[in-house]
Amino acid sequence: MPISRRALLTAGASALTVPALPRLAWADDMPILRAAPSNAQLAPEGYGTTPVWSYGGTIPGREIRVRAGERVRRRFVNDLPQDTAVHWHGIRIENAMDGTAGVTQDPVPPGGTFDYDFVAPDPGTYWYHAHARSWEQVARGLAGPLIVEEGEAWAGLEGAATREATLMLADWRLQEDAALHEASFGDLHDWSHAGRLGNTVTINGAIDARLPVQRGERLRLRLINAATARVMPLRLPGLAPVLIALDGHTIAPRAAEEIVLAPAQRADVVVDVSPEMDAPLPILMDAGRDEWIEIGALVDGGETPLPPQDGPVRALPMTMDHALDLTAPQEELLRMEGGAMGGLRRARLGGVDRDFRELVAARRVWAFNGVAGDMDDPAFRAPLGRTIRMRLVNDTAWAHGIHLHGHHFEVLSRGGRPDPHRDRRDTVMVMPDEPVEIAFVADNPGRWLLHCHMLGHQASGMLTWFEVG
Ligand code: C2O
Ligand code: CU
Repeated sequence: MPISRRALLTAGASALTVPALPRLAWADDMPILRAAPSNAQLAPEGYGTTPVWSYGGTIPGREIRVRAGERVRRRFVNDLPQDTAVHWHGIRIENAMDGTAGVTQDPVPPGGTFDYDFVAPDPGTYWYHAHARSWEQVARGLAGPLIVEEGEAWAGLEGAATREATLMLADWRLQEDAALHEASFGDLHDWSHAGRLGNTVTINGAIDARLPVQRGERLRLRLINAATARVMPLRLPGLAPVLIALDGHTIAPRAAEEIVLAPAQRADVVVDVSPEMDAPLPILMDAGRDEWIEIGALVDGGETPLPPQDGPVRALPMTMDHALDLTAPQEELLRMEGGAMGGLRRARLGGVDRDFRELVAARRVWAFNGVAGDMDDPAFRAPLGRTIRMRLVNDTAWAHGIHLHGHHFEVLSRGGRPDPHRDRRDTVMVMPDEPVEIAFVADNPGRWLLHCHMLGHQASGMLTWFEVG
């Protein structure tokens, strides 16, 4: 007789001599999320597989999908040879579930477990990734999509997409034998420049991915940049993409010939596949210096074409939860300094003022407000409910993708000019000499990280925190 896993667990529990705690009995039916070494075919056919670290054995990790307002529940099991923790990027989460090792929880040791159980309040495209030595762990593959569906139906309504697909983009540095280039993990030269860039870009773990589509369909693509360093300018020639969400947030639909995703950023776009499509539609990425390479393509899946949908794209349901009151905000500044060609002379580390040579010796080459990643004091404290207006100033020679945990912010201005869209995001790219102003309500109590999502930059100085409540 087949015996269900649940039945086995119950049988096992009753055989214990120690009475089981009700909490454990309840947690036993939690789905497992296991991080472990595995292998993936990242290199082209003909090359071997790449030893990676993954969630659930696949690259990317299995997509987690809930409806807005539902709980995400996972018993995380660490079968890696390192401490780790799982961060749910972009979710306005309860602090204890944020998964930042050493800040919101103790790291999960090899062989250890941690139960994540939280509400995902906002619909949108999110992702989960390792948040311990993330410059190594994410580069080894520890990332997966987290999709929060709209509470009210959108798909299928007039002007909405008929189907959707998640495209998780990642950047790998592979050797000729297809193994990860481990020797460059932690390379300070990479970290002091753009970060550890790879040489292989995958979509959903595949190089040169072929994504089957139905001719005539209106498709929603959920694009996620899971790279540790690479900024990805993307183009879908011939598809006239319409942006409908950024970092999960609904925006008024707008055409976007080019979509630029900093590491950790997401964009939802709608594309209309022509019923007359007769060749694969390439997905192009600027590999640097305007060198556009094909990283994958939409291909005809062979189904009967749908009648074309050429009416305007329907906006997603609006998700703004509160209008920002900017009359008397708490003003904050985040000044980025350091890196190659940055001219950083001194910064504080371990509570002590240090010169650049000492900073390099300590592997800290960047600073926020003159502090090179010290975690003793927060960048700022805010009373619960206070509106924060923050100026992000990039005094370095490099782009940075600045991310705040636990909150979503509005982009008020760029380079001194008001941003016409005032997009809401959780990660914003700040270019050299182009200050960005953001604002948000500090409405989520706890200690939250604020860092650059170029993960090598984060590890070498671009990391701080703020405290709410
Ligand atoms: Cu994507 Cu600190 O996180
Ligand atoms: Cu950075």
